[in-house]
Amino acid sequence: MTESSFQPGEDFAREMDSADLLAHYRERFEFPKTKTGEECLYLCGHSLGLQPKTAGSYVAQALRDWADLGVEGHFHAKDPWVPYHRLLTRQTAELVGADDAEVVVMNSLTVNLHLLMASFYRPTKQRHKIVIERGAFPSDQYAVKSQIRYHKLDLEESLVELTPHEGESCLRDEDIEAWIEREGDSVALIMLGGVNYATGQLFDMPGITNAGHRKGCIVAFDLAHAAGNVPLHLHDWGPDFALWCSYKYLNGGPGCLGGCFVHQRHARAFDLPRFAGWWGHDKSARFKMSSEFQPMTGAEGWQLSNPPILALAPLRASMEIFSEAGMDRLRAKSESLTGYMAFLLRHRPSPKLSVITPFEPYRRGAQLSIRLTGQGREICNRLAAKGVIGDWREPDIFRVAPVPLYNSYHDVYLFVQRFLMALR
Ligand SMILES: Cc1ncc(COP(=O)(O)O)c(C=O)c1O
Repeated sequence: MTESSFQPGEDFAREMDSADLLAHYRERFEFPKTKTGEECLYLCGHSLGLQPKTAGSYVAQALRDWADLGVEGHFHAKDPWVPYHRLLTRQTAELVGADDAEVVVMNSLTVNLHLLMASFYRPTKQRHKIVIERGAFPSDQYAVKSQIRYHKLDLEESLVELTPHEGESCLRDEDIEAWIEREGDSVALIMLGGVNYATGQLFDMPGITNAGHRKGCIVAFDLAHAAGNVPLHLHDWGPDFALWCSYKYLNGGPGCLGGCFVHQRHARAFDLPRFAGWWGHDKSARFKMSSEFQPMTGAEGWQLSNPPILALAPLRASMEIFSEAGMDRLRAKSESLTGYMAFLLRHRPSPKLSVITPFEPYRRGAQLSIRLTGQGREICNRLAAKGVIGDWREPDIFRVAPVPLYNSYHDVYLFVQRFLMALR
């Protein structure tokens, strides 16, 4: 929907909800309750997604199998544990636009980032820089800085943080590509967020990938805020690798395992240095217990350990829902819901707030980042005490995300009313 089709009244939100073909998915999630027992206005799926109502049954099954079968569960559980992670492969590949062999669910995001940098960050005297966006998520900053130091390089020379123009919060896509074109010969690795965690800016991933590859750089994306939020076509876009976590838009539960994409062109790159473990070893020979490591082809070859079944189980519930709903339909609703929130905030402007997320729908996902002057954190805490859940990021950003799987237009309407009231 376009800006001109939105209307400010509550009736409009009700009408949109009755016409929404995805509205019924809301019933499949548990909503936290306030102390007085009402459903919270939950707009925090960019941080921790809600629990699918069927998540418990997947966990219960794994516990039951453990109780009934002990070690035999590895091969004889209802869903045997040895190949259990592969139950997520097809749906994960579909979600990120990849072939099955290009994805694996394993570890958590920062661990995977290090594992893949161990293989793909191969600095040379001439090509040694890592490019990130200024204000990248701190864990990414720590990870790339520690890798640079690990290679005994100097942060001043080898770390580049792309910075928005003076007075702007977001990078311009054309600036990123122009920078790569100009400086790319010295860059070993471009590692940007697909969607920046603080501003909610969605980057032009295919454009950046092309620009990077034209200059011979390895290109990677941190998709923590993009997976399950925006459609991805990783195979066709062609980045070398990408990582994400499953506890935000993917509703896998706190600390759930992350996902990892390695492009097909590296599927048989057995000569790449890599940190190895037995779960990455050729699975047909894994239990022969040989001392020579032979990596599996594709992303699975970067696995280290046998995965925690109890942590994977709830993700199956959510991935099933994503498969049913379809990312393209979710994105269409998401653009409309987020556009509606932006419209309502603009309709009653306040000098105490400014939305720093890009205005154009193709440059953002579900999240709006609202810069607050004055008592922002207190306001955010007061709202949370009343069951209006977004989150605060220092120094001055209130982040909210209307998630198309379980948020409604009426949620957005009520949020804006309560938020603006709290600002007064
Ligand atoms: C953009 C981004 N990158 C990395 C991480 C770190 O994830 P993990 O704790 O799973 O390593 C987060 C966590 O919220 C994140 O938002």
